[in-house]
Amino acid sequence: MTAGTALTFPSDFLWGAATASYQIEGAGSVDGRSDSIWDTYARTPGMVLHGHDGSVACDHYHRYPEDVALMRELNLNAYRFSLAWPRVMPDGRTVNPAGLDFYSRLVDELLGAGITPWLTLYHWDLPQVLEDAGGWPARDTAYRLAEYAAAVHDVLGDRVRHWTTLNEPWCSAFLGYAQGRHAPGRTEPVAALRAAHHLLLGHGLAVQELRRRDPSLQLGLTLNFTDTRPLDPSSPRDLDAARRIDGLANRFFVEPVMLGAYPSDVMEDLDGLWPDDLVHEGDLEVISTPIDVLGVNYYATQTVTAGCEPDHAAATAAQARRHDPPSPAVGSEHVVTVRRGIPVSDMGWEIAPEGLGDLLLRLHKDYTGTAGVRLYVTENGMADDDVPDAEGFVDDPRRVGYLDGHLRAVHDAMERGADVGGYFVWSLLDNYEWAWGYTKRFGIVRVDYDTQRRTPKASARWYGAVAGSGSIRD
Ligand code: NOJ
Repeated sequence: MTAGTALTFPSDFLWGAATASYQIEGAGSVDGRSDSIWDTYARTPGMVLHGHDGSVACDHYHRYPEDVALMRELNLNAYRFSLAWPRVMPDGRTVNPAGLDFYSRLVDELLGAGITPWLTLYHWDLPQVLEDAGGWPARDTAYRLAEYAAAVHDVLGDRVRHWTTLNEPWCSAFLGYAQGRHAPGRTEPVAALRAAHHLLLGHGLAVQELRRRDPSLQLGLTLNFTDTRPLDPSSPRDLDAARRIDGLANRFFVEPVMLGAYPSDVMEDLDGLWPDDLVHEGDLEVISTPIDVLGVNYYATQTVTAGCEPDHAAATAAQARRHDPPSPAVGSEHVVTVRRGIPVSDMGWEIAPEGLGDLLLRLHKDYTGTAGVRLYVTENGMADDDVPDAEGFVDDPRRVGYLDGHLRAVHDAMERGADVGGYFVWSLLDNYEWAWGYTKRFGIVRVDYDTQRRTPKASARWYGAVAGSGSIRD
């Protein structure tokens, strides 16, 4: 995978870009959309940098034909997007045809451009009414997700083949309910564990519902993985710190889905916190309903060491201040993330392409290979401190280098046996980066938020050429 070597990918490889509803759509109160937890969170003073919110974002709701035309220009053959649940079901239960129709128009536009729609049902924008009714810590929310899946399938099922239920449930549960760094901003560790279980349960119920309706669909979910390494591999305490983070961030989500059980070491770490009444009989069978695809979001490696024994509150607060892919603030309070001094992105995340290759191989070997589940890199990309020229053009060699390195790592993992079906760059457009507002730019296309003008960056041109040829050239 040496940079400089030309590499060719299989002809059916999906070359895509990814986005998410709240991050790009805007049209916050158009056509019957209600508030999501992110609208509420963004309105709460001190939660989002500069108080930014997604009410306008990239105005994709109105500009989607232009955005699809851009994708076509960049030779993309797939597009990963999410639906705004509060647009589709503003009261959490009743379908809003006007909201759902937006996605029908979007899917038609994509298909007309020869682009495969890759749909995510839930990318963090829970209807506020469902949070008011208890949110993810309430078991009922899992059943609402399955109902929502059915409503979406009623309208899009004839045209969309690829369906993923959740995006990064780790973030929904732990950032949202334990650390409070994401909506709904709660800091209740036990509620976070309840949320995690109910997110997974909702995933399983939705998969069952969709499978019953159409056995030929490609179904799955997207998880975020952090490639976690001990600072000192010869130190038992550092090895244990890495095991804890790997357990809570990675295995805690992939194992119930792929193996039908929560990892026993994580359960031990959580002893005392894990509620006895949480898992009902049959839940793990539902959660492990067979899937076809596993989406992998990968950005960075994380190196950890065992800090001093916890002053619990201080450690949690310290974690909450860090930019790193964070620890869950549950069961890992004495783990400290350390910088290795290698280059980092504008998020402060370490740039380590080899971590992606290792991760794909590990997932293939430990979980997906024998189950015939195909891996897709559903997000990968970097935020950079872009500087546009007078025309709004951004020359972003660091982002090109990042994408090049990670694609080479994907290719290398495939050569070593990992079954990987596609790659989606995060993101098509600069967009709303959650608690960072509009201050972090991940797009391969620049968005001028004053004019909504889109200008492909050098990385878009580069990626378009790769997608068009199916290979990385010298
Ligand atoms: C993961 C999330 O799915 C996405 O919404 C976010 O913008 C990127 N990572 C970058 O942080």
